[in-house]
Amino acid sequence: MNIIQVNDYEEMSQEAAKVMLNTVQEKSHPVLGLATGSTPERLYELLTKAHQEDQVPFGHVQTFNLDEYIGLSKDDEQSYHYFMNEKLMGNIDIPNNQVHIPNGLVTDLEAECVAYEKKIQQAGNIDLQLLGLGMNGHIGFNEPGTSFDARTHIVQLDASTREANARFFENEADVPTQAITMGIGTILEAKQILLIVHGEKKADILRRVVSGEVTEDIPATALQRHDNVTIITDIDL
Ligand code: F6R
Repeated sequence: MNIIQVNDYEEMSQEAAKVMLNTVQEKSHPVLGLATGSTPERLYELLTKAHQEDQVPFGHVQTFNLDEYIGLSKDDEQSYHYFMNEKLMGNIDIPNNQVHIPNGLVTDLEAECVAYEKKIQQAGNIDLQLLGLGMNGHIGFNEPGTSFDARTHIVQLDASTREANARFFENEADVPTQAITMGIGTILEAKQILLIVHGEKKADILRRVVSGEVTEDIPATALQRHDNVTIITDIDL
């Protein structure tokens, strides 16, 4: 694992933007895997700035988001569709049909998972997968105990994850109980992985991810098995 230690959230976001822009500018058909949550918010602002101020084009990029809640419409402010549109897609020149986010509203959710995997394969797999880290070690919505071989699937969200994400909702009861997520097997097939982690509260879990035992109880420890992982963090390891 290549670990880049930085001083603060701003520097983490700047370094992560450099890595992502490098892929966007070097590849003729880059495929990016994207995450939601608080951690990448500034990074998405910086990508927006690169497009709007420095004219970096995104018209040749395809994206695949890690996950989406089940039961929220695309217009729901808490959906990850809405988040991505607000933070990035609505600000850059990427065509809508090149943006992929699991659809948590279809009746046949199993078929949606299979179709999502197929689309990733048809795109030639993900060149660069961005990840955030959950307090319980989750990546995407792969909660502790998920098989490292799992592909895109339906998950029951942990009580701790629903509690952590309740800050975005009016009441904790409004946080959906299920989501669709890329599996760890899907994530590990990305050619490069970029994990960004901010804040002392994630210090213990990040240390276990980097140097602890590889175990399905801490999903992100699976990253130790990938040969091209970069971690950018302001945590002293
Ligand atoms: C979001 C996702 C999650 C988050 C993680 C950290 O698409 O897949 O794994 O990356 O929960 O969230 P924040 O950044 O809000 O601390």
